[in-house]
Amino acid sequence: MSVRNVQQIQDAVAEYWPDVRWVESTGSTNADLLNDNAAPGTVLIADEQTAGKGRLGRQWVTPKGSQLAMSMVVDLGDTPPPLGLLSIAPSVAVTDVVPQAQLKWPNDVQIDGKKIAGILSALDMPRVIVGIGINVAMRTEDLPVETATALNLEGIDVDFDDFTADILTAMGVRFRQWQERDPQLLVDYRKVCTTIGQEVRLELREGEETVRGLVTGINDEGEVLIDDTAYAVGDVHHLRPNQ
Ligand code: BTN
Repeated sequence: MSVRNVQQIQDAVAEYWPDVRWVESTGSTNADLLNDNAAPGTVLIADEQTAGKGRLGRQWVTPKGSQLAMSMVVDLGDTPPPLGLLSIAPSVAVTDVVPQAQLKWPNDVQIDGKKIAGILSALDMPRVIVGIGINVAMRTEDLPVETATALNLEGIDVDFDDFTADILTAMGVRFRQWQERDPQLLVDYRKVCTTIGQEVRLELREGEETVRGLVTGINDEGEVLIDDTAYAVGDVHHLRPNQ
């Protein structure tokens, strides 16, 4: 891939993100921003990550030029709104830009049940580092699991720089809704969350205790309601994904 036009991206998103940085390769953009005392509004984009971090301690693979992999610094403020809603804000932003996408609770971005993006947040009071990896242009053989896909493999071809600017703008809007406790964030989340109404198995910790039941909704804290009991964390598996 050619070197990105970072200035073009910066100009397009300055209202929300005043400091956009780009590197060709790094270990993990989340780790870089955690180690750097970067101010809220900073974004770090990488064309390649050699030690990307995924949820539940998993590895996240970012082959060169295949993903929009980036992290951003968000200000928590003195009395932050529910953090469960913070984690869904960037996933809703992806569905704003990619209307074919839907969300598996809490924030797995999927197309037809296959994952196209992952989101990982790290609290570093009074900041939070939010990292996202979106599979933009992957080769089938580079997909980490059979249940993953990429925009290009779904027939969605984007210009990397325009897509980056669109995603960052949508994220700016959605993070602002989170900060302002705007109920529209959850209204829109519930519209695109395919977990609602599903029979699920919730793995509370990897390979450990599971809960089974019907998802009756998502509460105002962004927690999943399984048979009306709220759960804040865990890995959800849809038991009948095609229904
Ligand atoms: C998941 O496991 O679903 C979350 C994956 C998050 C990956 C992104 S890529 C940019 C940022 N840097 C990292 O090391 N991880 C996140």
